[in-house]
Amino acid sequence: MTRIGPVTVGASRVSDVDLALALLRSPFGQVDTSNAYGAGRSETVLGEALRSSPVAVRVFSKADADPVTGVFDGDRVKRSFEESVTRLGVDRLPIYHLHDPYTITLAEAAAPGGAIEALVGLRDQGLVDAIGIAAGPLDLVEAYMRTGAFDALLTHNRYTLVDRGAADLIAAAKARGMLVFNAAPFGGGLLAGSARAAGRYAYRPAAPEVLAQVDRLAALCREWSVPLPAAALHFSLASPDIDSTVVGVSSRSQLADLEALVSHPIPDGFLAAL
Ligand SMILES: NC(=O)c1ccc[n+]([C@@H]2O[C@H](COP(=O)([O-])OP(=O)(O)OC[C@H]3O[C@@H](n4cnc5c(N)ncnc54)[C@H](OP(=O)(O)O)[C@@H]3O)[C@@H](O)[C@H]2O)c1
Repeated sequence: MTRIGPVTVGASRVSDVDLALALLRSPFGQVDTSNAYGAGRSETVLGEALRSSPVAVRVFSKADADPVTGVFDGDRVKRSFEESVTRLGVDRLPIYHLHDPYTITLAEAAAPGGAIEALVGLRDQGLVDAIGIAAGPLDLVEAYMRTGAFDALLTHNRYTLVDRGAADLIAAAKARGMLVFNAAPFGGGLLAGSARAAGRYAYRPAAPEVLAQVDRLAALCREWSVPLPAAALHFSLASPDIDSTVVGVSSRSQLADLEALVSHPIPDGFLAAL
C-alpha cells in the first residue's frame, strides 16, 4: 500500500505555476488534484512546475466525467487518466480516485465496461498504485466502498469541527484497511477565516446554527489561545482513522500559514474541550 503523510495539499484552487512550484517544494510531499480542477488548469500548472523543478512529490489525481456530455464510463476513465498524466508529465500515479460520479449510478459504474472496471484495469497494469472513491454524499461514498474494489476513500467537509457526519464511514473504511483522506478541514474556507467563504460552509450558504457554532468555537479557541484554523486542522490530524488531511490553499502565504498551523502547539485537553 502507498505510504502516505498526514497532510496533503489540495490544489483545487491552484492556477499559477508560481504557487504550484511552492506546493511541490513544501514539506508535505503530497498534492491532491483532479482532471476537472480549473478545467484542467490545476494539473497543467502542476505539470509545468514538475518539469521545471523535478521534486520527489506524490501527486494524487482523479478521473472526472466528460465535462461536456457527463459520460463517465470506462473509456472516459481511461481518457481522463491519459489527459491527467499528459498534463502532469508523469507515467503513473500513486493514487487515482473516481471523482464525484454524479452522472452515473453505481450499477452503471460497476457494470462491464464501466468506470470501476477501468480503474481496476489501470491498477492491474501498474499505472496507478491505489484506486479511490472521492465524493461528497456519505451514502454514495459508502456504497462505492462496499463494492470492495477500492483501496482508498476521500470524504470532504463531513469530518470537521462543525460536521462529524463522516465519522462512521471513516471508521468503516479503516476497518477495511482502506486509506482514508479527509478533505476540506476548514469546510471550504470558513474555519480558516477566508473572506470568500464568509457565511458559507462546504461551498454553500451556511445554516445559522452552523455560524453560531463557529462563533462558539472561536470563543473557546480564544480561551485556549489556539487559532481557530489550527483547531480545525488538528481536529482532523488527531483522528487515528484518517491517514491524510487534504487542505486547500490558494496563495503562497496560505501555504506558509499551513506549515505554521501544523506545528502549532495544541494544549492537553483542548481537542476534548472542542
Ligand atoms: N470531491 C472531492 O474529491 C473533493 C471535494 C472537496 C475538496 N477536495 C480536495 O480537498 C482540498 C481541500 O478542500 P477545500 O480547499 O475546498 O477546503 P478547505 O481545505 O476546507 O479550505 C481551503 C480554503 O481555506 C482558505 N484558507 C486556507 N488557508 C488559509 C489561511 N491561512 N488564511 C485564510 N484562509 C485560508 C482558503 O480559502 P480562499 O481560497 O477563499 O482564500 C482555501 O482555499 C481541495 O483543494 C481538493 O484537493 C476534494
